[in-house]
Amino acid sequence: MAELLAKYGPWAMVTGASSGMGAEFARQLAARGLNLVLTARREELLIRLSDELSSQHGVETRVAALDLSRDDILGELERVIDPLEIGLLINNAGFTNDGDLLDNDLDAEIRLLHVNCRAPLMLSHVLGARMRERRRGGMIFLASTVAFAAVSQWANYSASKAYALVLAESLAKELRPHGVDVMALCPGFTRTEFAKLAPVNNAMAMDADKVVAFALSKLGRTTVAIPGFFNKFAVASTRLQPRALNSFVYKKIIGPTQRLSGAV
Ligand SMILES: NC(=O)c1ccc[n+]([C@@H]2O[C@H](COP(=O)([O-])OP(=O)(O)OC[C@H]3O[C@@H](n4cnc5c(N)ncnc54)[C@H](OP(=O)(O)O)[C@@H]3O)[C@@H](O)[C@H]2O)c1
Repeated sequence: MAELLAKYGPWAMVTGASSGMGAEFARQLAARGLNLVLTARREELLIRLSDELSSQHGVETRVAALDLSRDDILGELERVIDPLEIGLLINNAGFTNDGDLLDNDLDAEIRLLHVNCRAPLMLSHVLGARMRERRRGGMIFLASTVAFAAVSQWANYSASKAYALVLAESLAKELRPHGVDVMALCPGFTRTEFAKLAPVNNAMAMDADKVVAFALSKLGRTTVAIPGFFNKFAVASTRLQPRALNSFVYKKIIGPTQRLSGAV
């Protein structure tokens, strides 16, 4: 229990902490005694979570309500993060736009790039440098099983998750000699606000608390963590079959959920 606090404490920062896996990361880290910086756009949800964590676990919290698609996110965050020793960064915030890329609003796709790729890059650059200097720390990047295959109607999203996967794997190599653990977490369907799950997908989906517990148990032990048997099988199959077939199989799995969102 106390291992994470000793290794990465005293402060952790979770992006996208207002719901889903981000809120669950915050809960499980607070239960291990880490203080939390919580960020997302919906301030009232962050304040509610912050009250819950401090009353249930006696940890300190800071709330930073922020849209990560904005330009000057570091300027807006520095007042909160600069005085704190943040030893664990959970780059969790992310979203998808459903639909054919060319029919989607270009600004919405650029916002996706900013939230899913630019923000994790900027935060890991700033906080990672401080961790490297202290010779201790950890970072988790939320990738996805779709990082392993191109998925139509999720073109920019699957590309953004491939970015998260490769960035985490490369950074892990650079930072391991400096005592900093970096890991890409690659969930498949997980029951959160993210996905309007079709029954077929819901049957194979995982609960966010299980995914997060798995991730925290793997940090420092592996570089790419894939929770759940079905997800491990899906990713393993991408290594055995031609790339074009990967996209076809993934589309078969994800398609029903996209139809629910009106994408196809
Ligand atoms: N659920 C799945 O099936 C699944 C599978 C694989 C990977 N993932 C990845 O897991 C991560 C967490 O998603 P989730 O499933 O927990 O979904 P979720 O419940 O929708 O959570 C997404 C979080 O990201 C935050 N966010 C979205 N846009 C933002 C913005 N512009 N600025 C700041 N924060 C923003 C949201 O907060 P606000 O709305 O309050 O800003 C929310 O806290 C994402 O990166 C997602 O791509 C999810």
